[in-house]
Amino acid sequence: MQIKRVIVTGGNGLLGRYISAQRKDVVSLSRADLDITDMSAVSKAIFKGAACVIHCAALTDVDYCESHPEDAENVNAFGTKNIAEACRAAGAKLIYLSTDFVFDGAKTTPLTSKHTGVYKEEDEPNPISIYSKTKLKGEEFAKITDKWVVVRTSVVYGNEQGKRHQAKPKKFVNWAIGELNNGHKIRAIHDEFNSPTFAGDLAAALLKLADSDFGGIVHCAGSERISRYDFALKIADVFGKDKSLIEKVKSEDLKRLARRPKDSSLDISKAKEMGIQMSDASHGLEKMREELMKK
Ligand SMILES: NC(=O)c1ccc[n+]([C@@H]2O[C@H](COP(=O)([O-])OP(=O)(O)OC[C@H]3O[C@@H](n4cnc5c(N)ncnc54)[C@H](OP(=O)(O)O)[C@@H]3O)[C@@H](O)[C@H]2O)c1
Repeated sequence: MQIKRVIVTGGNGLLGRYISAQRKDVVSLSRADLDITDMSAVSKAIFKGAACVIHCAALTDVDYCESHPEDAENVNAFGTKNIAEACRAAGAKLIYLSTDFVFDGAKTTPLTSKHTGVYKEEDEPNPISIYSKTKLKGEEFAKITDKWVVVRTSVVYGNEQGKRHQAKPKKFVNWAIGELNNGHKIRAIHDEFNSPTFAGDLAAALLKLADSDFGGIVHCAGSERISRYDFALKIADVFGKDKSLIEKVKSEDLKRLARRPKDSSLDISKAKEMGIQMSDASHGLEKMREELMKK
């Protein structure tokens, strides 16, 4: 049974656009429609009559957050507090998008065939960057609502075409395709691992969660733990690009402001048990390519 009214924050972001593309009755709010740091606007604007708010709005550039900690805290933590308070007042369910980066990446449990990634929902977070600290605070604020779901995901990718006001692609896959198209070399790290997630799969999972009675934390991410280097090779495979342009580097070879976890791949067994289907890297990239070919 579909619930009555779903509101999406961050509606002009990658994930927000995939959600509203999948369900037409979704009310999608961009930053121009609603700045989540403005409490009075939040409480006035949205929540009356909403059954569920899927809260995607965030500052997602990890290095920007590191150099702008106040902005990151205002949007990712206190913006989420505003959304959570408005949800509580309206009796709406809150689905909060969080990140694999809440973990420090130091867990070393060997993977078995049953486990798709290292971290399970009950593992203790230990964030190591400003972005991840503010996202974890957001998780805590989300829990002040009566009905909350925290969805942790990882390296979300999908078609960025059609995004308003964006000259250059922000996400790794789109950036990599653009560079390889132009014959530019790219450097990709081989000693950090995530669970890259196709935005179309994640959007479907979120809408399923909106319609379900589930409450709590769930990991919804790609079903394959993979390094950025191996992921780049798959991008080249699927999109027919020249693999020799991809240079294998170590994490310390790239100058980045914020620290990243070594292995923040997510175990998605719980989501699978709930009937949520997430693609591995090759299948997710294939879905993205098929979408591009239809355009
Ligand atoms: N992308 C990933 O790899 C990844 C991984 C793990 C978790 N997540 C989480 O998943 C969620 C969605 O990510 P995404 O990939 O869709 O990110 P995205 O493309 O960067 O979209 C985030 C959106 O939030 C909006 N926003 C920023 N500040 C705002 C404010 N003060 N008020 C209202 N809106 C604001 C941005 O507006 P503008 O368009 O105006 O900038 C943007 O459209 C985020 O919560 C993120 O933390 C993402």
